[in-house]
Amino acid sequence: MGYLSTNRKKITVRTFLEMKAAGKKIAQLTAYDFTTARLIDEAGIDSILVGDSASNVMAGYADTLPITLDEMIYHARSVVRACRRSLVVCDMPFGTFQASREEGIGNAIRIVKESGVDALKLEGGSEIIDTVRGIIAAGIPVVSHLGLTPQSIHKFGGYGLRASTEDEARKLINDALALDAAGVFAITLEKIPAALAAEVTRKVKAATIGIGAGSETDGQVLVYADALGLTDEFCPKFLRRFADAGRCITQGVQSYIESVKMGDYPNESESY
Ligand code: KIV
Repeated sequence: MGYLSTNRKKITVRTFLEMKAAGKKIAQLTAYDFTTARLIDEAGIDSILVGDSASNVMAGYADTLPITLDEMIYHARSVVRACRRSLVVCDMPFGTFQASREEGIGNAIRIVKESGVDALKLEGGSEIIDTVRGIIAAGIPVVSHLGLTPQSIHKFGGYGLRASTEDEARKLINDALALDAAGVFAITLEKIPAALAAEVTRKVKAATIGIGAGSETDGQVLVYADALGLTDEFCPKFLRRFADAGRCITQGVQSYIESVKMGDYPNESESY
């Protein structure tokens, strides 16, 4: 409990870098709506990611590809309204930054202007570095996302471990170094060997945030629905369930149904 922050000061990009320098771990969770984001922010999280995993968690799609720019802006705006302290990062969804640098910069500006998020996350390495540079030049802080990049699922054909060969590991390190030099303030490392994530973490100025990337990254991120037990079908090795919120909701709903059916709810003191 001593690690829980009582400091209500807004977390900024600079705080992330100070935390890395001080060896203080960064805790990030996803959220996509006002009510959940408020609970997570008030619990003391450092950062909330409005991930394009909203496509799975909120809309029930099989992957992250269908979610649109307008839908992400809606989720991001709802989360921003709830957050007092945490740094809010929003994913740029598939198809909004890959076609051209200009389109990427324009869409990045739209997300920030219409939602008020603090930073944007973009999946990809050196292929998108010009776009990343352009977004940073427009004054928008950028988080990169390397390793397992779900927007490229059809290219890789599955959600297995990434960068397990020497060539892929070298490419990932080179991408991380290039993005670091371009000025990203954080790099999400998804589902890569722990030793590789540790090496990247030592080599870059940016804060590394791991998911399935071992314990030596500067921070960790999980999808809140998985971490809090709202889902049970997704169970990769790296996932730990920190609560059983799914069971809690089911029990509450059953208790409500029973009370209504028995005529026990509402009682006199709950009536006008
Ligand atoms: O969309 C998302 O939730 C993410 C995390 C899994 C890192 O990108």
